[in-house]
Amino acid sequence: MDKDMKIVILGGKGQLGTEIYEYLKDKEEIYSFSHQELDILNYDLLEKKLQEIKPDVVINCSAYTKVDKAEEEKDECIKVNTIGAKYVSFLAYKVGAKIVYFSTDYIFDGEKSTPYTEFDDPNPLSVYGLSKLYGEKLTIEHNPNHLILRISWLYGIYGRNFVKTILNLARERKKLTIVNDQKGSPTYTLDVAKQVYELIKKDKVGIYHSSNQGETTWYDFAKRIIEILKIKDVEVLPIKTEEYPSIAKRPKYSVLDNFLLKLEGINIMRDWEIALEDFLNTYKDILLGEKE
Ligand SMILES: NC(=O)c1ccc[n+]([C@@H]2O[C@H](COP(=O)([O-])OP(=O)(O)OC[C@H]3O[C@@H](n4cnc5c(N)ncnc54)[C@H](OP(=O)(O)O)[C@@H]3O)[C@@H](O)[C@H]2O)c1
Repeated sequence: MDKDMKIVILGGKGQLGTEIYEYLKDKEEIYSFSHQELDILNYDLLEKKLQEIKPDVVINCSAYTKVDKAEEEKDECIKVNTIGAKYVSFLAYKVGAKIVYFSTDYIFDGEKSTPYTEFDDPNPLSVYGLSKLYGEKLTIEHNPNHLILRISWLYGIYGRNFVKTILNLARERKKLTIVNDQKGSPTYTLDVAKQVYELIKKDKVGIYHSSNQGETTWYDFAKRIIEILKIKDVEVLPIKTEEYPSIAKRPKYSVLDNFLLKLEGINIMRDWEIALEDFLNTYKDILLGEKE
C-alpha cells in the first residue's frame, strides 16, 4: 500500500497513542514519540522534530489524565493539557500540518439527561475537565486545520483502564461495589483509531463527538465485563457516588451523541456493548492472564 501521509504521534506510548500507532503503522509513514523521547512542553525540541519531519498530520495523544490527582496538581495538569496543546497546535501550523487533539466528556457538567451534542455548552466540574476544555480552545485558536475528537470512558489493550481494574479486583474479591449513578459511554481505543483515520483521510476539521454509542453506568459496565468473560463467583453490587467519594467531581451524565459524525454520514463508532464484546473476545486470554 502506498503511504501517502507523514503522521507524527505525540504521547505515543499512552493507551490511545499506542493503539493509533499500531493501527496506522502499516498504512502511513508514522513517527511516534513517547513522553520520554519528546516532552510537548519542550518547545524548542518539538519545533526541531516537526521541522525535520515536516508531517502532514500531528496527532496529540499526550495528556495529564489523572483526574483526581489533578485537583492537587492543578498547574501540572493545565500545563500539559493546555499549554502543551497550544505549543503542539501552533508548531503543527508552522509546518503546515493538521493538528488532532482528544478531548473528553468531562468538559460537561452532567446536568442534562439526554446525550450531549457538539452544540451543548461545556461547563467542566474538575480541573482535568477544565484543562481539556482550555486545550480544545487553544488548539483551535492556533491552527485553523484542527480536528478535535471528544471521547469518553476509554479502554483498550494498552495502558491502564476500567476494564483492567475490574479484572484485577475480580481476582482478589468475591464482591465488587461499583458506582451506579454516573452514566456515560465506554469507548474502545481501536474504534477511536479507526474513526480518527477516517476523519483525517477525508480532511475534516472541527469538533466531533466520537464515542461508542449508547449509554451505561460504571456498575452495568462492570457487570457486562464479568458476564461476557463468564467469570464465576464474583458478585457486582451497585452503590451511589456518595458511598465512593473521590477527590474530583464527575458529571452524573456525560453521554456523548456523535451528532455531527452521523449528520455527515461518517460515524463508524459502534454501540458500546458490541465494541466491548469484540474487545473482550479478542483479548480474553491476555486479559484473564494479565495482572497489573
Ligand atoms: N482515558 C480516558 O478515559 C479518556 C477519556 C476521555 C478523553 N481522554 C483523552 O484521550 C487522550 C488519550 O488518553 P489515554 O487514555 O491514552 O491517556 P494515557 O494513557 O494517560 O496517555 C497519555 C500519554 O501522554 C504522555 N504525556 C504526559 N505528559 C506529557 C508531556 N508533557 N509530553 C509528552 N507526553 C506526555 C504520558 O506519558 P507518561 O505516562 O510517561 O507521563 C502518556 O504516555 C487524552 O487526551 C485524554 O485526555 C481519555
